Amino acid sequence: MRPIEDGGHHRSWQHEVMGRTVSFVNQKGGVGKTTVTLGLASAAAHAGHRVLVVDLDPQGGSTWVLGIDPVDVEVSSAEVLGRAPASKAIVTSAWGEFVDVLPAATRLQDREHGSGKDSGKRLRAALESVVGNYDAVLIDCPPSLGNLTTNGLAAANHAIIVVEPSALGLRGIGAIADVVDEVWDAENPELELAGVIVNKVPGISGEADRRYEELTEAVGRKAIWQPVIPQRVILNQAIGDRRSIHSFGARSAEVSGAFDQLWRKLRRVIK
Ligand SMILES: Nc1ncnc2c1ncn2[C@@H]1O[C@H](COP(=O)(O)OP(=O)(O)OP(=O)(O)O)[C@@H](O)[C@H]1O
Ligand SMILES: [Mg+2]
Repeated sequence: MRPIEDGGHHRSWQHEVMGRTVSFVNQKGGVGKTTVTLGLASAAAHAGHRVLVVDLDPQGGSTWVLGIDPVDVEVSSAEVLGRAPASKAIVTSAWGEFVDVLPAATRLQDREHGSGKDSGKRLRAALESVVGNYDAVLIDCPPSLGNLTTNGLAAANHAIIVVEPSALGLRGIGAIADVVDEVWDAENPELELAGVIVNKVPGISGEADRRYEELTEAVGRKAIWQPVIPQRVILNQAIGDRRSIHSFGARSAEVSGAFDQLWRKLRRVIK
């Protein structure tokens, strides 16, 4: 893959457009899409900013961590991809008044193989009617490049690729960039590839360092958001305990601080 900033790509990664809706994508599972989405939501709430987390993953990970059991959800993102208004699905999360969630349900899986295009437009229209209530709308996409991720991209102004610095973690970035291009071309001219967030960076690892260099060569240094997110057990614990990373106070200061910086960067990008 060519470096994105070399001008060979027909759109710049740095160009900023209006719009507060951001999709977090990678077809590889377990790289940290949900962790990064929720870390940013946590940072936003800590700063007194309001966010909406949209869960487009049938596994419902972010829904669950935000205090809602996907099996109890009556109006979910699956219905909003159908005809339901977003306001019928959105609920306040257990994290408090600053974080709302548009929850997932297992039946979302049926949408992965249904017709994709119109549902993306419906989601986009549904989110446009509520985006004014939030500083940002964060869409947690599933580990695939199928209809659900395509719908998430069709509804977003910005796409952020979440990667981990391993050989397998970096494979497929080109395919994601291609899907972003396809959605941009076919149905969403406002979509921008905002950059790459690197997650699960080990303290000392020659292997991870080499992969980071590979990533830099592939996407260009400017496309990689700083700081990277270190690999830390507290992030596992936060997810397992359904808590925001900031709720751990001093114990999570390093990781919370990283998300604070990424949130400030995201605010600049969506302004
Ligand atoms: N920086 C990190 N340090 C330690 N553990 C992490 C970190 N980021 C994520 N994890 C853990 O890795 C696992 C996968 O993370 P997460 O669910 O965020 O990935 P995902 O990309 O959303 O996965 P999926 O593709 O299944 O939706 C979780 O158990 C999470 O707690
Ligand atoms: Mg996830």
